[in-house]
Amino acid sequence: MNKETYLKEYPKYKNMRENVKRDKNRLHFHMMPPTGWMNDPNGLCQFRGVNHIYFQYTPFLAGWGTKLWGHYTTKDWVHYTEEEPFLFPDTKWDRDGVYSGSACVKEDGIHYFYTGNVKLQDKEYDYIMNGREQNTMHLFSPDGKNITVKELVMTNEDYPSNMSKHVRDPKIYEKDGYYYMIQGGRDDENRGCVLLFQSDNLKDWKWYDTVYSKQPFGYMWECPDLFEIDGQQIMTCCPQGVEQQGYEYQNVYQCGYFPVSFDMENKKYEFSEFTELDKGFDIYATQTFQDEKGRRILIGWMGIPDADYDNDATVQYDWIHALTMPRELSFKDGKLLQKPLKEMQQLRKNEFHCALSEFVQWEPKDSCFELHIDFEERTEKNSSVKIQLREDVFLSWEKGLFRLNMGKSGHGRKERIAEIKQLRNLTIFSDTSAIEIFINDGENVMTTRVYSENLEQKVTFLSKGNVGNVAGYELGSFVIEKHEEK
Ligand code: FRU
Repeated sequence: MNKETYLKEYPKYKNMRENVKRDKNRLHFHMMPPTGWMNDPNGLCQFRGVNHIYFQYTPFLAGWGTKLWGHYTTKDWVHYTEEEPFLFPDTKWDRDGVYSGSACVKEDGIHYFYTGNVKLQDKEYDYIMNGREQNTMHLFSPDGKNITVKELVMTNEDYPSNMSKHVRDPKIYEKDGYYYMIQGGRDDENRGCVLLFQSDNLKDWKWYDTVYSKQPFGYMWECPDLFEIDGQQIMTCCPQGVEQQGYEYQNVYQCGYFPVSFDMENKKYEFSEFTELDKGFDIYATQTFQDEKGRRILIGWMGIPDADYDNDATVQYDWIHALTMPRELSFKDGKLLQKPLKEMQQLRKNEFHCALSEFVQWEPKDSCFELHIDFEERTEKNSSVKIQLREDVFLSWEKGLFRLNMGKSGHGRKERIAEIKQLRNLTIFSDTSAIEIFINDGENVMTTRVYSENLEQKVTFLSKGNVGNVAGYELGSFVIEKHEEK
């Protein structure tokens, strides 16, 4: 599909747009596809004051299809513009999908790198070692909206010969005058890894090295990201094929980070332990960027491929999936901390504050709220906590285990557990059909979709004798305008 066919098709899908509007599960403060399907956030950046959020998008189908890059812009993270889709599968190198990629901001504009997906159909293939092309593409835009160049940078031939056809999702990391492109890979022995390519001009790229963790860790690493924060190098990625171990890796695919030390010059790479970024049900393909204030912001896909729970509740309204709230990162005491972006506070409406001992019940409108609980530390009485967030959604903490339990409204999502020794504080963001829970200043996060029959729900504090403080805020909605092409 190229831009012309998209614009021609667009009016035909008026019913879809009307249907979407009828859904009570449309989110109030999360980015969603205007219609159809959304997955990974792509090309995150801020350029001349404007934040660009692109995403994997099939506008006319609430299911798996050929990907475009959808596009939102915002200056303040509350008022958004739905821009025209930015990238279309309109060349022979990306005809079966403009897959995930990233942005690199320069003075005069933005460079983007993404994977052009081609799926051969002429005979039978395994689509692992053959049958697929994953081309590395480059483009340039002076403003984040118009494209002046779209060109092929590398093909599978340019990747090391021990790679399968699965090499994708480029992200740029600048270090000591060089650009390094990190891509996710699966080698011919089914080992997940990242590939590094080097360039000094963003145009000419050469394979630099292939990097593995000490122990094999899954068969494919999708959507890698490499950045520095508070003096620490971090590599995030989404390993597939990692077995559950106790309370680790409860999801079908993982999404997490390694604190790393990549000495590029000497090609020495050290990995510390992998930690999941989020212990909830719906998190994948996170990407980060540094905004003009210097903050490292992470956004993830609030979904996951191949899960055995569903999102059918919204599919019948012609849309599916959403992105997490933007989260500001920091690194402290060996841990990555995530906290909701400060700008989300602009959505606060009616508020209440009380002592935890007095907190019983609250009924925020449409189940859209922000709730903070500070537990007074080292109080024996805080040794167990239970909160009912909705009819059949419970949070509890006891004997060092923090649980999220869901009933029917979880559509197959039942329980996720995180090991939390001491519970110091909780920040809960509840939207119509999504909940994000930040535990202990964001040391742990749990994200989930939820499909309640009705949204007149109550929050109930069920445990007795806890000591601490509560602050609650009802939350308003994002304002989203559609950009109309003249
Ligand atoms: C991750 C992913 C990426 C790929 C994109 C396709 O969810 O599979 O590896 O580029 O989605 O939509």
